[in-house]
This record gives sequence, C-alpha cells and structure tokens, in this order.
Amino acid sequence: MPGKARRAVRRGRHGHAAVRALGLMLGLAVLGGCDSDAVPGADAGAGAPAAGAAPARAWTIPAAPGTIARGARLYAEHCARCHGERGEGAPRWTQRGPDGRWPPPPLDGSGHTWHHDLATLKRVIREGSPAGQGNMPAWGDKLTEEEIEAVIAWFQSRWPAPIRETWLEMNARATRG
Ligand code: HEC
Repeated sequence: MPGKARRAVRRGRHGHAAVRALGLMLGLAVLGGCDSDAVPGADAGAGAPAAGAAPARAWTIPAAPGTIARGARLYAEHCARCHGERGEGAPRWTQRGPDGRWPPPPLDGSGHTWHHDLATLKRVIREGSPAGQGNMPAWGDKLTEEEIEAVIAWFQSRWPAPIRETWLEMNARATRG
C-alpha cells in the first residue's frame, strides 16, 4: 500500500469498547466451540462461503481441533510482547515512535489488519516490516507455515463478526484475483 494511503488507514482507528467486548465474547464462544466447527477436508484454502450462505465457521483458515489454542500459545510466546496480550497493539500505534518507526498495531480487529488478505498477512509475518518502516521481525525462519496460519486463526477468532465477514468477502475477491 502506498505510504500515504497506509497512513490514512492507520489514522482510521476503530477502538470502540463495545466492539471489543463483542469481539471478546465471540472469541470465547469460538474457543469453546471450536471442535464442533471443524470439518476435516471441507472448505480447504482461503475460500469464503458462497454469497448468502450462513457463515459456517468463525474464521477463514480451516481450523483443525486445537488450532486456535495452538495459535494462542504461539502468540503468547512470540508476539504478545509487542502486539499486547490480547492483540490490542501499542497504546499510541497510530503515531510514529521517536525513532520514526511505526509501533506494533493491534491485531484484534480494532486496527486495520483486516484490510489485508491472507497472502499479505502471511507475507508480513514471514518477512517482517519492510525496511525502515517498523520493527517487526521476520518469522519465516522460526515459525512454520502451519504455525503462522494458527496464529492468524487465533487473532481472526478475536475479530467482531462484521469485520470477519467483510474480510472474508475481501479475501475471496483477492484470491480470485
Ligand atoms: C519486536 C516487536 C514485534 C514482534 C515480536 C511482533 N511484531 Fe508484528 N508488528 C510489529 C510492528 C512494529 C508492526 C508494524 C510494522 C510496519 O508498519 O511495518 C507489526 C506488524 C504486524 C502485522 C501487520 C498488521 C497490520 O495491521 O498491518 C501483523 C499481521 C503482525 N505484525 C503479526 C505478528 C505476529 C503474528 C507476531 C508473532 C509471530 C508478531 N507480529 C510479532 C512488531 C512486532
């Protein structure tokens, strides 16, 4: 995304308490019911449900039983120190730090992470910040593809439902190219 547009998006902050509370409730519901939602072999890849279909799953990446819990553990170990315990991001993430770099944004749906399709999310996590822009380390040599997907499944499980649905549509368009 060009720098200007990116900054504009960053300023659009939606850290609404009610939305967060809803996200938390949904997150807990998802964690509680995750096994029943996983249909092995069904819906492989990043495909979205057909238009009008009831959203069968709360997140996009087919989550085998335990995937979200595994993602939560990986997140706590590797990501929470920067992105916050619950993915809430740095307090002043919309402003560059004293070093001129961007602080860690929220991943919990209150920022703009959901503006990125799956391929972009994976790439950011694999490769880290584009040079000079932020201090996000690259994870490609530390986490496997599956582990990266599990972490994404975890933070997506925290997104409020309307955000997940918007993301599913956007991601389906991006995937169709
Ligand atoms: C040392 C601090 C640090 C750690 C640890 C870290 N990140 Fe980040 N992360 C950042 C920063 C800073 C940015 C913003 C980078 C930029 O603008 O280039 C970022 C950006 C991101 C983004 C893009 C978000 C968006 O809204 O555009 C994702 C996704 C992400 N990180 C996921 C992760 C995951 C998953 C982990 C753990 C495996 C992790 N990060 C660990 C600092 C960190």
